[in-house]
This record gives sequence, C-alpha cells and structure tokens, in this order.
Amino acid sequence: MPDAEKVLQTVSWKGGKVRLIDQTALPERLTYLDLGDWRDVAQAIRTMVVRGAPAIGVSAALGMALGARGIIAESRESFKKRMEQIAETFRAARPTAVNLFYAVDRMMGVIEKVEGNIVDIKDALITEALAILGEDIEANRAIGMHGSALLQDGYTVLTHCNAGALATVSYGTALGVVRYAIEEGKRIQVVADETRPRLQGMKLTAWELAQDNIPVTIIADNMAAVLMREGRIDCVIVGADRIAANGDTANKIGTYSVAVLAQYHKVPFYVAAPLSTVDMQLPTGSRIPIEERETIEMTHVEGIRIAPEGVPVWNPAFDVTPNELITAIITEKGVVRPPYDETLKKLVEQVAIPA
Ligand code: MRU
Repeated sequence: MPDAEKVLQTVSWKGGKVRLIDQTALPERLTYLDLGDWRDVAQAIRTMVVRGAPAIGVSAALGMALGARGIIAESRESFKKRMEQIAETFRAARPTAVNLFYAVDRMMGVIEKVEGNIVDIKDALITEALAILGEDIEANRAIGMHGSALLQDGYTVLTHCNAGALATVSYGTALGVVRYAIEEGKRIQVVADETRPRLQGMKLTAWELAQDNIPVTIIADNMAAVLMREGRIDCVIVGADRIAANGDTANKIGTYSVAVLAQYHKVPFYVAAPLSTVDMQLPTGSRIPIEERETIEMTHVEGIRIAPEGVPVWNPAFDVTPNELITAIITEKGVVRPPYDETLKKLVEQVAIPA
C-alpha cells in the first residue's frame, strides 16, 4: 500500500492557487499545474486536464473562490452579478456530472448566507470550497469502508473508466472500495476496461493502481464478456456522474454494456458514489444530459487519424445504466439496494436533516 507521503492528491489549494494533476499527461508524466486564474480552471475542466465527477466539482468550487478573490466590486449586488457570470462559465464546462452543479450552487449559496462585507464573503467562499474538498476525502473513505464489506478475500473486480484518486480529490470511489478492502488485508485484483475513446481505464486507472502496487490487468472493452463467462470476475464496481432518484445511473460510455453483461453472467454490479452525485430533481435517468464530445477523440489516436475521412462519427461521453441492472449503490452513508426510489430517498433525507 502507498505510504502517506505518496497518496495522490488530484485537486488542492496551494499558495492561493488551484493545484491540479494534469491528467492529459498521464501515464507518461506526473505533472502539476498551479492555476491562479479561474478561467484556466474552467478551461482545465472543459479540456479534461481534470476529470471525474467529484474532481470537477471540487475544482469548480476552488475556481469560484479564486474568481471571487479577483473581483473588485463596490456593492454586494455587483459582486454577486459578477459571481453569477463566473458560476455560469463553470456550469457550462461539462453537462453530465451533477457534482459540478452541486458545488457551484453551494458556492453561490454562501453569498446569500454571509452577512458581512465583500471581504467576508470572499473568505467564506474559500472556506466553503475547502469544506467541499475535505468532504470529498471523507466521503471516499466512508464509501470504501461500506463497499469493502461486499468484497471477499481473493476477489477480482472489474471497473470501467477511472473512478479512482484521479477522479476525486484522492482515494477514489470505486477504487476507494478496492483500496479499503486491501487495507483490511483482503487480496483483491482489478481488471480495468481500457475505456475507449479516451482510455481513462488504461491510462489512469491502471496507472494509479500500479503506483500503489495494486494488481491490475488491462483489457479492451470488448473482452469483459469472456472473462465473466469464464468466472474470472467476481463483481463490477463503477463510479457515477449522476444518479437519478430511481437509481438510473449515468457514467462513462460503455458502463451500460458492462451492466448488461454482468446481469447475463450473474455477476454483481455495484455503483460507488457520494450522495452529491444523486440528483433527486430527476425522477429517472431519461433526462440526464449526456455530453457529446468532439469526434476527433474517436477518429484520432495520439494525433494520428485512424478512421476513414468523411464517415460520420458519434461520440457520446456517457450512457445511462437502468436501475434494474444495478445490484447496489455504495455511498458514504451506507449501501442501498432496490427499490432505489425508496432507499436512496431515505439516505438523502437522512443527510439533509441532521438528527
Ligand atoms: O469523462 P470523464 O473522464 O470525466 O468521466 C468520468 C467517469 O465517468 C467516472 O466514472 C465518474 O465521473 C465517476 S468518478 C468517481
């Protein structure tokens, strides 16, 4: 296991700047970017320098704190107006992960709540962003603890995309479950779908697990069925970008196919996510906005065209897995099972109204 010094922190606040691991450089180079301008943070989210639902939420919160610091305003109203514009830029950066909207709304809520002057509001915004960051770390450990109970010694876990330290502030959601189980002394190995077209599974999941000496094998996305048929996968754990009130879950494109395969082969399919990923406003997954990205992600590999010119390409970044394919959802408050419209609601209400 990693020593404390080496634990990856994907997003942090260092010397008044937002520090991000540049995920577009991995696995070749581990480099950090220190961003002092909120516009660069928004751009980093758009271009996937930072990606993964919780990581982009926290980055947006820190980016807004940065933006607030730079505002010279004479009144609360003009300060708020400028903050609304900054918030809008962050909201427009990526549409699917609800954590981004959750974080932006929480930051805007601070402006309403703080009664002091503009300096007080700016300080409170930094405090709030750091609270969101801290909660992410805590939530991931708790998700790990609850999820670990589902894993037995010797399990092989299949995952899709990257729901690890690199997709969060640190530790990860799906990979947090694996990390926690290993800390408890279980022998766990991971099979990572490469995750076309951006290869987050191969480039990021495999890299971060290898850093921690956690056994991992990379497969192409079309190889999972054979492994399941041969009984070589004990369960699937994936992250989530948005979970509707009925449990329908948006996650990286290809997650739905893995869930279908898992059900056919009777392999448990788990979603691991903090409650900030649950969108109770959406009764089902049918209205989750699905990002479509540039077709160059499909047609080119490392800058080299691999597709014929002129042939149409479709490149949705996410899909929605229907709730009936999900065995359980692992959150920081516990593991819930169907019917999700009842069990998730109870959990969310428990968080909203502290006892
Ligand atoms: O397009 P990405 O790389 O941001 O997509 C990331 C995923 O789909 C993750 O699985 C999801 O955000 C959960 S991260 C804990």
